[in-house]
Amino acid sequence: MQRLGTIDVFPPAENFVYMDAASVGLTHKGAAAAINRWQQALADEGTIAFDEEDEVECLDNLNNAAARLFNARPEDIATASSETVLMASLAWAVMPPRGSTIVATETTHPSTVYPWMRAAEATGAKMRWVPADNLYIDPDRLEAAIDDSTSVVCLSHVEYGTGQVFDLARFAKKAHQHGAICVVDVTQSAGQVPIDIAATGIDAAAASTYKWLCGPFGTGFMYISPALQKLNPGIIGWRTHKDMWDFQANRLEMPENAKRYEFGTMAYGTALGATEAMNYLLDHSIEKIRVHNRHIADRLMAGLLELGAEVLSPKKAEERSATIAARLPGKNSKDFARTLKANNVIASLRRDFIRFSPHLYNNADDIDRGLAAIKAVL
Ligand SMILES: Cc1ncc(COP(=O)(O)O)c(C=O)c1O
Repeated sequence: MQRLGTIDVFPPAENFVYMDAASVGLTHKGAAAAINRWQQALADEGTIAFDEEDEVECLDNLNNAAARLFNARPEDIATASSETVLMASLAWAVMPPRGSTIVATETTHPSTVYPWMRAAEATGAKMRWVPADNLYIDPDRLEAAIDDSTSVVCLSHVEYGTGQVFDLARFAKKAHQHGAICVVDVTQSAGQVPIDIAATGIDAAAASTYKWLCGPFGTGFMYISPALQKLNPGIIGWRTHKDMWDFQANRLEMPENAKRYEFGTMAYGTALGATEAMNYLLDHSIEKIRVHNRHIADRLMAGLLELGAEVLSPKKAEERSATIAARLPGKNSKDFARTLKANNVIASLRRDFIRFSPHLYNNADDIDRGLAAIKAVL
């Protein structure tokens, strides 16, 4: 299996067996160049190089790319500097009411759920944690946790540790049956798994761009359903006004769309880079990337099992992504990760396991080289 993302676009893929997209993906070369160009032009020419029109356009362009990614409308997307910031703004907009429950898995990423915990602390809502069995979340158990007390079902589409994939349509439907909303962190799925907002019916989806989207740190975006666009965002600023160039502090009229969740300046060059990277992936087709990644992840999983590893990621095809978590027999995962890195095999240590996350720039040869290195350490 050849690389889908070639080494002219991802040069480090030639030198390393880079299997760490769940932590930080390799940055698209053109995206990095766009960011550097923007920063230099700003240093050289200030607003001559980046004027007010550009300041509007660069987020609009990112929202257009995100709309393509989500099969949604650009006016339903807001951009800011990260997933966490957007999720926090949403949690304070929703303000889950006193006595209601927020359903989340205990294996979710802190940034997915901390904003909701903080808002719940203020309102008197309660967390309802769905327990995991050796890091696996039983979807039936998750569904059973949603009832009439639920105000928010807060999920990560793909779990950051094991790569477990949730059927969003199923949990959105169940949430809606009980009058709750379904809010999803797609940071670990955007770029590796297709996300069709209309088909799943979820109410919000937020992502950062530096992982599977092969973009930079410093940019995130969020889909927000028309109903949630009527709420008051938790974070507001000068960009929140419907005409951001109005500059009248004694009035605030918000746009009647997701733009009300955009609130201030950011490192705009990162938005240019993220847009370039995202459009590159979309031109390849996320479905093609998913199939490619699954082939190489299957090869990795089979090899790990052969080496006697305890694979923690789900075995069922529909619950798997390209993220593979494993404990290696008789080895301390921390030492193991360090040794692999010394051998140019890049994966990450999470808790007491190693997480491998190959992406479109990996090929079958990478997997075999990675497995050979693992075997040598064992
Ligand atoms: C699911 C998920 N959400 C969010 C983040 C990080 O959020 P941010 O980019 O806002 O810091 C991560 C990073 O590992 C993640 O895995």
